[in-house]
Amino acid sequence: MNTVTVNTSKHYEVKIGSGLLAKLGEEIAPICAKGTAVIVSDSNVWPLYGQAAEESLSRAGIKVLSYVFPAGEQQKNTATYLELVTFLAENRITRSDCLIALGGGVVGDLTGFAAATYLRGIRYIQVPTTLLAAVDSSVGGKTAIDLDVGKNLVGAFCQPTLLLCDIHTLTTLPEEVFRDGCAEVIKYGILYDPELFDELVKTGMNFPREQVITRCVSLKRDVVCQDEFDTGSRMKLNLGHTFGHGIEKCSHYEVSHGYAVATGMAIAARCAAARGICTRETAQKIQNILVQFGFSTRTDYSADMLLDAALSDKKRTGAAVQVILPEKIGCCQIRSTPVEELKFLLEAGL
Ligand code: NAD
Ligand code: GLY
Repeated sequence: MNTVTVNTSKHYEVKIGSGLLAKLGEEIAPICAKGTAVIVSDSNVWPLYGQAAEESLSRAGIKVLSYVFPAGEQQKNTATYLELVTFLAENRITRSDCLIALGGGVVGDLTGFAAATYLRGIRYIQVPTTLLAAVDSSVGGKTAIDLDVGKNLVGAFCQPTLLLCDIHTLTTLPEEVFRDGCAEVIKYGILYDPELFDELVKTGMNFPREQVITRCVSLKRDVVCQDEFDTGSRMKLNLGHTFGHGIEKCSHYEVSHGYAVATGMAIAARCAAARGICTRETAQKIQNILVQFGFSTRTDYSADMLLDAALSDKKRTGAAVQVILPEKIGCCQIRSTPVEELKFLLEAGL
């Protein structure tokens, strides 16, 4: 097992290893000894891991309640949020109790937002069960729910109290969901870590889980400790996300987040090469690894369609968009681009 310590406004540990779900109770006992732990999970994850989590907590003498909602991004909404906090209130959950997010990024974001707001804040533990949640969404305290107008528009920064990543849970992930998370892993290589990038080129999707997840969590830890509230360097984590967001929206979310971000990173690489920010060789290396992992590096959507979709839920005129562009593998820059210029930049990368 590996441990990464996160020293943000709240200090917490991220434990990564196989079989950690069985130790959930003993890990949480110091936090919630006499309290109730409310496991929040979705309809896919609960049947697979709910019982193991419940049994572990009960063995440690912790009272357990569970709240399970239908799986899927479309459930990360105000209705599910209100139902969850109402469930907490009806069961008289207090600040001595805690929530446990058992699932992927949807469960983690929703649970974190409920924890941030219920009783003005109660503690929560992240137990990520997707690769994306393990390397990205569970770390760093961004919590949110979606509105009809756009994704993640209501949220809060709220760090978890503990994070337990049982890599065994990743074995039941559908291949496409696992691949989705790989886009975020590749992103860390492009942003910060040429060695990680080279290792991924060698191993493809068979990378050593514990080692690579620990590396990604450590890299994200460094970023969020430097810029917890996302006003500067943390924005780099949005590599591929502006254009990716456009692809997701244009496809009415038929194209998943990781696939869209992967194509977005390829577009960003071509933009950077066209503007002389990186070499054509670097842009090609980025596209090659994305193809190797089974992602598409091109989109059929036009620049107008992508920008209209990407910016429709954001302030448009007068605003600048922070676009992340690679300089070389392991180093990217934040380029503040006026909305009016964004189309020319994007066209250079399509
Ligand atoms: P998800 O939570 O919807 O999980 C994907 C699918 O896998 C779901 O059907 C889920 O039920 C299933 N699943 C989860 N774990 C499983 C397992 N071990 N075995 C079998 N099936 C399993 O999606 P995701 O990709 O994990 O997360 C996407 C969400 O994360 C989005 O809402 C996105 O906005 C959010 N996100 C948040 C941050 C952040 O910093 N907070 C960062 C990136 C993404
Ligand atoms: N996933 C982007 C961030 O945490 O900032």
